[in-house]
This record gives sequence, structure tokens and C-alpha cells, in this order.
Amino acid sequence: MSRKTILSGMQPTQARLHLGNLEGALRNWVRLQDDYKLYCCVVDWHALTTMAEDPSEISANSREIAKDYLAAGIDPDRSSVFIQSHVKEHAELHLLLSMVTPIGWLERVPTYKEKKLALKTESEPYGLLGYPVLQAADILLYKPYGVPVGKDQAPHLEITREIARRFNFLYGEVFPEFVNLIGEVPLLIGTDGRKMSKSYDNAIYLSDTEDETAEKIKNAFTTPTKMRKTDPGVPENCAVCNLLKVYSKDWQKQWDEDRQGLRGCMQNKLECVEAVNERLRPLRERRRQISDSDIEPVLARGAREAREVAARTMDEVRAAMKLR
Ligand code: TRP
Repeated sequence: MSRKTILSGMQPTQARLHLGNLEGALRNWVRLQDDYKLYCCVVDWHALTTMAEDPSEISANSREIAKDYLAAGIDPDRSSVFIQSHVKEHAELHLLLSMVTPIGWLERVPTYKEKKLALKTESEPYGLLGYPVLQAADILLYKPYGVPVGKDQAPHLEITREIARRFNFLYGEVFPEFVNLIGEVPLLIGTDGRKMSKSYDNAIYLSDTEDETAEKIKNAFTTPTKMRKTDPGVPENCAVCNLLKVYSKDWQKQWDEDRQGLRGCMQNKLECVEAVNERLRPLRERRRQISDSDIEPVLARGAREAREVAARTMDEVRAAMKLR
């Protein structure tokens, strides 16, 4: 029996994935590929919605992210790893879907409002408004059973559903419904106590060395009122304790002792460095062994596999719309 399809993607706005990307999405994909056929996309055109003025790094970033996928355990023999722009059907479906998507729907997407405020350029590109239409095309081309994403992506999946329903209503049933596969994932806290994000400069990367990781954790934010070892800590608000919770099997004991003033921040930090580096070691080892020349054939094969499915869907789409 053939496995059900799932699809997900990440934007190559940065060259490397951090622990938030790893715990928040990638680990879930790795687990799911045992039960599903996974299409695992690096969405380089999406990165252009905010990086069009200087796109020079996008293609190198895309390769680095594909390496992170493999290092985290995505298996290219079972899953198709590819770059969005290598499968032109994404652009064609985006165009056709854009004709049936009301602008009002797009203006209401919460991430649109945020991204518009964060724009570094003065004029707002047309493509930014269409971001969710392109994402809908990414998804619908593969007619997936489900889409595994982080919680923040729920509005994009909702508008994808609305676009699919409208298409089906106008031209006939082409796109089946799909489910959200939102993983039970902790929100990862960065070294400054805020959400881990490359734009806050508080992230630990898969590609960091053990020494770089240690340096970041040693300088991380802890309970400000805990000056001495014997002062009580507030582990919920401490960046190091939050990392311990995700990476250390003894975290409950460590939190209790922290709260009671039985241990100091330095001990937490040292144990945290150990726990994080230990968990990442196999992954980092694998990542070091993946070279530029290893990744190109993986991406070529992934694109070929993806195109096969995407081309079939596009034939149905054109037929439904009476385009010949
Ligand atoms: N918008 C997603 C993000 O920022 C990336 C994305 C683009 C995506 N196309 C997708 C995710 C299709 C899942 C499926 O993370």
C-alpha cells in the first residue's frame, strides 16, 4: 500500500537552522517520515518576499538548510528533499490560484500585517501580499493528507483550505481536504529569555561548534535576582533552565534545586552545555560529513520526484479550468 503524502517547508532567509527550528518542526518531520511519504521543501521564492533587494545569499542558504534537514534525520531515500524554484509548477499554480483569491482574505492574514511592519524597504512588494497564495500552491500541488508545521502557521493553512474550496467550487473537485499536523512542541527560549529567533540574535545553531554553544550558554540570561548560589531561582523565567527542560533528563531535579537555592547558575550552565552538546553531537557529526557535492544529487532527485506529482496535478488543474 502506498503511504499517505505530507508536505512541509522552511524559508532560506537564514543559512542555518537553530534549535527552535529543530525542536519546533524538524524533529516532527523526522518522526512522521516513518508513516508518511514526506515532501520536504526549501521555499526559496518565499524568501524573496522579504529579501528581493539582495537575493544573493538565498541559493547558498537553501543548500545549507537542506544539509540541516539531512543531518536532523530526513532520509532522502524515503522523503523528497527539494528546492521550490526547481519545480516550476509551484509558480504556475500560484498564478492560477491568485486569480480566484480575494485580496480581502490576504489582507486579513495576521502574518501579513506583521511582515509588512517589519519590512526594511519603503515600498511594499506585491509578492508579500501573495505569500499565502504561493504557500497554498506549495501544499495543494501534492494533494497531501496533512501538513506538519509549527503553531504559527495555522492561519496559512486555513487560507489554503479556503482557496482550495473556492477552486473546487468554481471548477470541480480537484483538491482534497487536508489536516493540520501541528506537533506537541515546546516553544524554545533563546539565550536572552525571549523566543529563539535568528532576528533576536539569541539562537543556538545546529551548525555551531560545541565551544560556540558553551560560550552562548555561559553568557545566557538567568534569574536576575539570583546573585548568589543560595538565592532562590525562578526557573520558568531563566533561559538556561528552559534549555535544561528540553535537553536534560534531570531537569525536574535541577529546577527544584534552583528554586530552593541549592544550586547556582554556573552549575546550571555547565550541565546545560553538557546536555545540549550531547544531544546535538550525532546530528552535528552527520552534518560535518555532508559536503556540497553530496547535497546536489539529493536535491536533483528530490525535484524530479516532486515534479512528477506536481505535473500530474497541474494537468488536472488545467483541464478543470478548460485551459489547453
Ligand atoms: N510559511 C512557512 C514558514 O514561514 C514556510 C512555507 C512555505 C511552508 N510553504 C509551505 C510550510 C508549505 C508548510 C507548507 O515557516
